[in-house]
Amino acid sequence: ENKLGEYMPGLEGVPATRSNISYIDGKQGILEYRGISIDELCKHSSFLETAFLLIFGNLPTEDELKEFDHDVLHRRRIKYRIRDMIKSFPDNGHPMDALQTCVSAMGLFYPIATPKDLKSPDYIRDVTLRLLAKIPTMVATFHMMRQGNDPVLPRDDLSYAANFLYMLNGEEPDLFMAKIFDICLLLHGEHTVNASTFCALVTASTLSDPFSVLAAAIGTLSGPLHGGANEQVMVMLEEIGSAENVEAYLEGKLTRKEKIMGFGHRVYKVKDPRAIILQGLARELFDKYGHDPYYEVALRLEEVALEKLAHRNIYPNVDFYSGLVYKKLGIPVDLFTPIFAIARVTGWLAHWKEQLVDNRLFRPTQVYTGKRDIRYMPIADRT
Ligand code: SDX
Repeated sequence: ENKLGEYMPGLEGVPATRSNISYIDGKQGILEYRGISIDELCKHSSFLETAFLLIFGNLPTEDELKEFDHDVLHRRRIKYRIRDMIKSFPDNGHPMDALQTCVSAMGLFYPIATPKDLKSPDYIRDVTLRLLAKIPTMVATFHMMRQGNDPVLPRDDLSYAANFLYMLNGEEPDLFMAKIFDICLLLHGEHTVNASTFCALVTASTLSDPFSVLAAAIGTLSGPLHGGANEQVMVMLEEIGSAENVEAYLEGKLTRKEKIMGFGHRVYKVKDPRAIILQGLARELFDKYGHDPYYEVALRLEEVALEKLAHRNIYPNVDFYSGLVYKKLGIPVDLFTPIFAIARVTGWLAHWKEQLVDNRLFRPTQVYTGKRDIRYMPIADRT
């Protein structure tokens, strides 16, 4: 028995690590990256600058940022063998599975020289640049190839966010759209010990290479209780169809004790601060490019859900409004969760790096609930 003694399903409230990467106040709805509030970062920073902050611990100087931007932007092409591997994936496979396979395959192409390298600053920087640069290209390559098209090659003159949108269809997005998308990535960058980050920590603690760490985390993110919820929210909004159907839909769901996707959070007991910002971004997009009927459905859903769920501290989370933004940017629904992964690479890498500093293998105990001392029964005697 440990000092805590008690079994906590889902490890609720159990500290699994010490970290100085991000901070959440779940009662006040505060999220900070390295002590800086996400509101500040959204106003002044960019995704890549914030990635630097999260992974290396401080905001970069002007020269450091220039170099980091340059080093990421010039690593965006992927090996032709990886492209050929993607070509052989089934068209109707889920892009999260494609992404997980690609990241895992990167371990084959960029093997670690010696176990000592894992902690070397040069190796960490190199692997960080590679993963940040190539993951969006791999997602876009799969998306183009599943439609029977050639991939769109990354363009060195486009920013990180603009280039991803460009690679999805060969059309250059306007600066406003690229800026909104960049803020979305920033907002999804890091979130303490969520399920996929915890999975990354467990894998990192065995001293696996970072590609295995990320592949494991991507698999964990894909589930509908975690990152996969953003796709499910859009499916739900489409299923509801119009604002007047919301009440009956919600009533049915709650009677059947089904979860409302995009609502509820283990840590937030108020509306997720990221959902507030994402809702604002959706509104800005609708003002500029025209209304989306699903926004009305979402607003009505939030209103009715608040009446029914707020007394149990269940409010919209990050996944509730992100899909509306992505849809307005012309992104297909099944790429919503891969986009979450593109952004969360920063948090996973930051935690991987932090874990290696004073690593100890994760190896918890269990509460055994099975039988003991049972005699083996020969197969002929079993009924
Ligand atoms: C993310 O952890 C992170 O930080 C994750 C994340 C990140 O950035 O990494 O923020 C990203 O994963 C956001 C969450 C996306 N998932 C969803 O939107 C799926 C729907 N939400 C839930 O299933 C749920 O709220 C969870 C999984 C997010 C959290 O659930 P908990 O903490 O395990 O709580 P629970 O499922 O045990 O629910 C407690 C009670 C239950 O009621 P009772 O059995 O006590 O009566 O609250 C109810 C639940 O039924 N409840 C909901 C609900 N969420 C909780 N009821 C209806 N709809 C919901 N969405």
